[in-house]
Amino acid sequence: MTRSILVTGATGFIGSRLVEKLVEKEHNVTSLIRKGKHSHPKSRKIIGDLTDSNLDISIEKIDCVFHLASHTPLEKNKKILEKVNLGGTKNLFNQIKDKTKSIIYISGLGVYGDPGEGIVDESFPYNPTTDFVKIRLDAQKFLEKNCKDVGINFSVIHFGDVYGTRGWFYEFLIKRLLKHTFRLPKNGNYYKGFVHIEDAVGSMVSVLENNLKNESYIVADSSPAKFREFVDFTADQIRVKHPGNVPVFLAKAVIGGDLIKLLMTSMKVSNKKISQIYQFKFPSYRDGIPNVISELKSKRLLK
Ligand SMILES: NC(=O)c1ccc[n+]([C@@H]2O[C@H](COP(=O)([O-])OP(=O)(O)OC[C@H]3O[C@@H](n4cnc5c(N)ncnc54)[C@H](OP(=O)(O)O)[C@@H]3O)[C@@H](O)[C@H]2O)c1
Repeated sequence: MTRSILVTGATGFIGSRLVEKLVEKEHNVTSLIRKGKHSHPKSRKIIGDLTDSNLDISIEKIDCVFHLASHTPLEKNKKILEKVNLGGTKNLFNQIKDKTKSIIYISGLGVYGDPGEGIVDESFPYNPTTDFVKIRLDAQKFLEKNCKDVGINFSVIHFGDVYGTRGWFYEFLIKRLLKHTFRLPKNGNYYKGFVHIEDAVGSMVSVLENNLKNESYIVADSSPAKFREFVDFTADQIRVKHPGNVPVFLAKAVIGGDLIKLLMTSMKVSNKKISQIYQFKFPSYRDGIPNVISELKSKRLLK
């Protein structure tokens, strides 16, 4: 069944791959992109910035909006985060509230805070501990409430750390490992949930195509791993030395306290719920990283 879909954040790491997949599946895709940016040639484009009070999403009825546009947690200025991630979400909602049947909002595992030893699933309470995550949760709650009031289906996906040929994996890990400038705070001794970009996109499409209403999903692969293991495995794959450590106070000074808190929070998650509708292609980073490395090589981004 062909659906009409709007994607925000369509030029980003995950959004661009999502648009590609939706086009491949013959859905009618519209990309919201900022001036001067490009998106998939087979998707319709609407130029606009979510923070612009004159934002005009001139679109007929749509089946679903995937809302991915966001500042990254690298942004330290709370006012900017509020303007884009919360204000931008409200602005978007006002434009689409009488046009769409459903909204799928993309978020991260940070909403669960510091859960301790247990395995986190969708029944876990939210407990945000950084400004970035608090603002992101405010945006989620705004959408949840307002969608309910006007009868729009709302679902949220909480991604683990998504790795692929763009984004943090390539820009911060691969490039710095190659230059021998990557360092691990606290020896990388904390559990993370990882997800290959293909599985991130595949699970989003499954949520869309299964027509699920008012649900939340955790999307991470089946093998929670310590960050140190993930990084050392990546280093082995590109044949560079395992990285050393950096004191936490120094890491905070360089990339910000909130981001370091998000990075160093140990969390094991269950992907049982999403696995009922989506079968992971890369159930472990040990399957997924070699695939990304060979894609980087074929794109000549890595020798
Ligand atoms: N990557 C991960 O590991 C991960 C993990 C968990 C959750 N997530 C969430 O998944 C979503 C997508 O992540 P990503 O890695 O694809 O992010 P990304 O590569 O940084 O892309 C962000 C996208 O948002 C757009 N954007 C930013 N501000 C905007 C504004 N004011 N108006 C319109 N568009 C704006 C950017 O457009 P420009 O190209 O014009 O800058 C870009 O298309 C985000 O919500 C992110 O927090 C990501």
